[in-house]
Amino acid sequence: MHFKTKNEWCFRFFNSPDYLDIYQDMTGPLRTEAEIAFCQNVLHWRPGQLILDAPCGAGRHSIYLSKQGHAVVGLDFSSYLLQKAGASLPSFLRKKSPPDFVRGLLQNLPFGDETFDFIICLFSSFGYGEKEIDNLQIMKEFARLLRPNGKVLIDVMNRHFIAPRLSPVYESSCSDLFVREERTITDNGRRLHNLIQVRDSRGEKRQYLYNPWLFDGDELSQLGEQAGLTIEKIYGNFYADEYSRSSERAMMAAVKR
Ligand SMILES: C[S@@+](CC[C@H](N)C(=O)[O-])C[C@H]1O[C@@H](n2cnc3c(N)ncnc32)[C@H](O)[C@@H]1O
Repeated sequence: MHFKTKNEWCFRFFNSPDYLDIYQDMTGPLRTEAEIAFCQNVLHWRPGQLILDAPCGAGRHSIYLSKQGHAVVGLDFSSYLLQKAGASLPSFLRKKSPPDFVRGLLQNLPFGDETFDFIICLFSSFGYGEKEIDNLQIMKEFARLLRPNGKVLIDVMNRHFIAPRLSPVYESSCSDLFVREERTITDNGRRLHNLIQVRDSRGEKRQYLYNPWLFDGDELSQLGEQAGLTIEKIYGNFYADEYSRSSERAMMAAVKR
C-alpha cells in the first residue's frame, strides 16, 4: 500500500515493537478504562451503534469496547500494531463479536459515506500527516463517515501545555531499552520534532523521528468547522473540565448535523 501523504519516518516508529515498549506506561488498562469512560460520558453511545476507533494502534480501546458489547471497527496503518491487536483478543471475544480490524490510512478511509455513529481518535493520534493540509483532509474524512447526528471525539495534547514543559533532551529506560529523545518544536509552535534513539540490551541501535502536528483547542475547533462539523465542546482533560489554554489536553467533541 503506498500513499503520497504518508509520513514515512513516523510510520517506521509505529511499525516497530519499540513504540509499544516506550509507551507501555501510558497505554495500560487503567488509562484505557478512563479514556473510554470519558468517551461514554460525553458521547452517550448505546449498544448496537457502530463505533470507529481510528487510528486504533494495538487495539486497546476497540477491544475494551467490544468486551462491553459494542460493535467496533478499529483502523490503523501499522500492520505490526494490527497484528498485535488481533493477537491480544481474548478467546471468548474471538468466538463472540470481536472488533473488525482494518488496515488503512486516515486521509483516505476505506469506508462508505455515513457508515458510523461514532468515531474516536484517542491518545494524540491526530496530526501525523506529512503536510499540515492532511489534518483537514482527515477531519473531512471523519465528517464524511459519520451518520447524521453521529459524533466524533478527537483527543490531542494541548500545544500550549506541552511547549513550556518539553525537555530538549529526555532519557529513560523501559523493557530492555535505553531511550534518548531530542525534542524541539518547529513550524511556529505547531509541530513536534522528536528524534528518538533506542539502544537495546544487545547494543543494537535504532532511530526514529516522531513529528506530529500540534494543536490547541481553537485550532482543533477550526478544523472541525472547516470540515462541516458542529463543535459541541472542547474538553481539557478526562474529567470533562472545559478546555482552556492551560489545559493538559484538547479534546473536541463534534456532531454531524
Ligand atoms: C499514538 S498511537 C495511538 C493508537 C491508539 N489510538 C491508542 O490510543 O493506543 C498513533 C497511531 O496512529 C497510527 N496512525 C498515524 N497516522 C495514521 C494515518 N495517517 N493513518 C492510519 N493510521 C495512522 C499509527 O500507526 C499509530 O498506531
